[in-house]
Amino acid sequence: MGSEEFTRHPDIQGLLFRGYANLYHAGYGFFRIVDRTACKSWLTGLLDSERISTAKDGPPELGTQRLNIAFAASGLEALLGAGWIPDSYEPPFVEGMVTAHRCRLLGDVEDNDPEHWRWGKEQDFDGLFMAFGNSGDEAEQLLADHLCSDNGVARVQTVYGHLNGHEKNGEREAFGFRDGISQPIIEGTSRYRDLPKEAALHGVPAGEMILGYPDGTGKLPRTPAVSAASDPRGWLKPHWEWPERRDLGMNGSYLVFRQLAQDTEGFWRYLNEAAAGGQETPLELAEKMVGRQKDGTSMEKYPKSDKENNNLFNFAKDDAQGKFCPIGSHIRRSNPRATGSKTEEASLKVTLRHRILRRGRVYEDAELGEVGLQFICFNASIARQFEFIQGSWCNNQFFDGLQREVDPIIGTVRKPGNGLDAVDRFTIPRDPYRRRLDGIPTFVTMKGGGYFFMPGMAALRCIATAP
Ligand code: HEM
Repeated sequence: MGSEEFTRHPDIQGLLFRGYANLYHAGYGFFRIVDRTACKSWLTGLLDSERISTAKDGPPELGTQRLNIAFAASGLEALLGAGWIPDSYEPPFVEGMVTAHRCRLLGDVEDNDPEHWRWGKEQDFDGLFMAFGNSGDEAEQLLADHLCSDNGVARVQTVYGHLNGHEKNGEREAFGFRDGISQPIIEGTSRYRDLPKEAALHGVPAGEMILGYPDGTGKLPRTPAVSAASDPRGWLKPHWEWPERRDLGMNGSYLVFRQLAQDTEGFWRYLNEAAAGGQETPLELAEKMVGRQKDGTSMEKYPKSDKENNNLFNFAKDDAQGKFCPIGSHIRRSNPRATGSKTEEASLKVTLRHRILRRGRVYEDAELGEVGLQFICFNASIARQFEFIQGSWCNNQFFDGLQREVDPIIGTVRKPGNGLDAVDRFTIPRDPYRRRLDGIPTFVTMKGGGYFFMPGMAALRCIATAP
């Protein structure tokens, strides 16, 4: 398949390849299936009328709309019935985001404990319906039109998101930083084809993000399966691993959703206090924590004007000590690129096994007086990609030789107690002495979330028609 064809693949839901930059508003409706038969007819109707957006639809024009759908494990179990084969899915997806082990791993403890979440503590949803449009009202109307009892589903939670400042100077998250810059680039797409050779730094085999293709090991990752009896109309291909079953995973991806509230006042208040009497301004400290300048420019050697090279830096080569981009900063923890520990190539190869495709949007809830990020990412393995980044990199207090510190943006800080020291520092390497910030509060708090599977279109057909 040519790169143009792959980028416009009719079996892959559109959100995987596009962030829908022209559609500023999104509504995310978490739903329960209350009537299986009605739900299946709704899904069939959506498919027949081509309402679910696929990669084939290309970038949306202003004034259009896009819809996408994903399911929690309980949703697939309900719709597939006897065809549901839990062992063929990744364990985190089947178990859900809220388990004691997973909460420890993700840092969903203390202020982030599901006990304090606004929604999702019980993981009481079967699916996620996503509507993208030109206004919040339009997104809400789309959710209301579809998530109704006639369609056999009931909405249990709605959250909204939008693109912020996109039309002017690039997408901004709530602390004011440019976001949406560094993404993995899927091999085989036209974007990958058009990239300069150095951008191999971000190139990942399709199977790292989309199931059904070889991943970074050169092999096919395990994909969800259904029994042959669940696909009497033959929408699916035989499963590559279990030929007697059918491949439900092909062209699908696991979707992680986390609503993350951002304490913007507390963030800048802390930075103002920390900057007093020091040599950095509050903004410079914030930039060190994020690992990029506020306008998105890299902290590395590339000059501001050089937009093309804004993401081609590589720590082993350009900044092994973290003098520009601190080792503990958010972007360095969440994508260490090539670090100095092994050969550059070997180290990059490892990092590329832990990339995620981010599709989040900011939110502002006037009623709650809250702003933050509707964090969404895609990956072929929640455990190896999203959970590894959050748990083993961002929440690792010993990350790359550091001690008693976590990601200053998304890490879960630990207060001292029970004979244990606090984990709440941030180190800024510099000559002749490093600067250390202490007592960093939690700036980002979990409000709800879940794990989903976003199927390909043939798989959706099978889900909609499984007996
Ligand atoms: C409210 C929470 C968050 C904020 C404010 C935030 C902010 C940012 C900013 C400003 C950037 C740099 C711009 C860019 O490259 O797009 C960035 C990059 C990134 N973030 Fe976050 N982020 C948040 C949550 C998360 C979470 C939960 C994860 C995953 C566990 C994550 C993973 C990443 C990754 C992988 C990058 C790209 C790093 C690179 O390749 O250079 N972020 N984030």
